[in-house]
Amino acid sequence: MKMKEAAKQLNTTPRTIRFYEEKGLLTLEKGANDYRYFKEEDLWRLQTILSLRELGMGTDRIKEALTEASPIHTYLNMQRSALYGEWLQLKDTIHTIETMLQKEEAQLSEEDLFYLANRLKGRKELRDKWEDEWNFNEQAKKYDLMIKTTGYRFNVHEGYDEALERVKVLADVSETCVGLDIGIGTGNLAEKFIHQGNKMIGVDQSEEMLKVCKEKHSEIDLRHGHFLALPVMDKGVDFIVSSYALHHLPDEKKITAFQEMERVLKPGGIIVIADLMFTDQKEREKTLADFAKEGNQEAIAAIEDEYYGNRRVLVEWLEVNGFSVRTEKINRILHVLKIQKSI
Ligand SMILES: C[S@@+](CC[C@H](N)C(=O)[O-])C[C@H]1O[C@@H](n2cnc3c(N)ncnc32)[C@H](O)[C@@H]1O
Repeated sequence: MKMKEAAKQLNTTPRTIRFYEEKGLLTLEKGANDYRYFKEEDLWRLQTILSLRELGMGTDRIKEALTEASPIHTYLNMQRSALYGEWLQLKDTIHTIETMLQKEEAQLSEEDLFYLANRLKGRKELRDKWEDEWNFNEQAKKYDLMIKTTGYRFNVHEGYDEALERVKVLADVSETCVGLDIGIGTGNLAEKFIHQGNKMIGVDQSEEMLKVCKEKHSEIDLRHGHFLALPVMDKGVDFIVSSYALHHLPDEKKITAFQEMERVLKPGGIIVIADLMFTDQKEREKTLADFAKEGNQEAIAAIEDEYYGNRRVLVEWLEVNGFSVRTEKINRILHVLKIQKSI
């Protein structure tokens, strides 16, 4: 298809398309007289660029996300994920305004106004300002091998199989339940539920992890997305599981992640999480001191490189917010939490 026709079909202009070409977002085949031709794949790519721009994503971020020619599902997945983020932002805004409207006009002060405005900004920043500091895209192909590697002075995956099995046992769900695995990676936890007949949705922020997972488990409904803006409708799932993923968020963002989980969980639903954490701050300090005494810098660097949770802080928040929590310690850095909202 020629440039003019493509621009017309996608409601844009040749000038805009040339701009994206100059920015390196789009590479078009050139024919005689420098005419550009669009293959179907180029049209999908352009439509994705236009849609993400419409949602306010900067061209640099789009370029980063669209590194290579991707399958059409990847384009659609990215758009869905961005739209969910936008939808949640709109929901927050509506909720904030509803709260203001419940007050009498005379009761509304400037302080309320600034508080609510800051709250909105704060929530948007919480969601937008998360970056993959660990490059999971690069880890994806070797991940399943990495978790089996032993012999290092510090093995974060010690107890991996046991923890995943405990998640399955503690979740104790019937085969008709629909589950969500957040930070699904290559799908090792979701696999356990698939085997017992559950329908599973898997969310991950890494396109490459999703690709590897798709090759292993084509039956999982895989979605590009984020702990803080899950691409799932309200009350869309019966249970949520997650393993080795939550510690990529600082504790205050973990709380936002729990709020998101509550949003997508059906009433009475269950959350089971296996993750790297310490019982409390005192235990963290003691463990780090013990590693220092042993001269195990590898362990200290690994722990400080991520956001190992403080179990006490998380459980306190959950209980104050109406959840009941059962905890299990697998080893000195690995815990399992079974979380249920009291109805
Ligand atoms: C260490 S892997 C664990 C994978 C798998 N759950 C397992 O137990 O083998 C962490 C996974 O969480 C994903 N992840 C990390 N932070 C995330 C976030 N904020 N939102 C969604 N996925 C995230 C990563 O992309 C990666 O696939």
